[in-house]
Amino acid sequence: MKSIVVLISGRGSNMQALFDAMLPCTIVAVISNRADAAGLAIAKARGIPTAVVNHRDYPDRGSFDTALSKMIDNFHPDFVALAGFMRILTANFVSHYHGRLVNIHPSLLPAYSGLETHARALRDGVKIHGCTVHFVTPDLDHGPIIIQAAVPVMQDDTVQSLSDRVLRAEHQIYPQAIRWLCTNLIELTDKGKVLLKCQNQLRSVLISPDLEQS
Ligand code: GRF
Repeated sequence: MKSIVVLISGRGSNMQALFDAMLPCTIVAVISNRADAAGLAIAKARGIPTAVVNHRDYPDRGSFDTALSKMIDNFHPDFVALAGFMRILTANFVSHYHGRLVNIHPSLLPAYSGLETHARALRDGVKIHGCTVHFVTPDLDHGPIIIQAAVPVMQDDTVQSLSDRVLRAEHQIYPQAIRWLCTNLIELTDKGKVLLKCQNQLRSVLISPDLEQS
């Protein structure tokens, strides 16, 4: 069975969605760069080993990333899942985990990479927003896309209501992406494209929840 390490910085709801999904893999550890990340307590309560590598203990990104990868590699994971991990990772770190490092981002990439995705989507008046699971490359939020979910943007949405709707979709697609990875249904081509080796790919690649009743 494949194994994964999950990296978090905060509340850990995506991490929890991975726990709850009964995935065909073992979550061997949860690692945070913040000792006060609420998700750590959730992981501990599930009996999952946790560790903290505090970025403030290191003089620069390079030395933090070296310490982080040392900690990750102690657990020998097949894959590393970023789940609300709020640090930009160096190219060295990313290439060390080439094809094994995935992230969930709260927008339909390549639109709205970076921070404050929901506020920016609302400001632009887009009608469709969503979330993306992708392989991580040195180009921030621009790695090969594994799965996306689209959600509607309502006229009376606030940042909170929109982020809640997107988060519900995140909790569907992240477990799906990890399931595909752990069952060898995902192939990352040399050209940086993701191939999904299953029959119903059209149905599963895009999840479009029904419009909510107003
Ligand atoms: C999620 O919206 C995720 O897409 C983004 O940070 C947030 C983390 O939330 N990268 P949680 O810690 O998983 O609840």
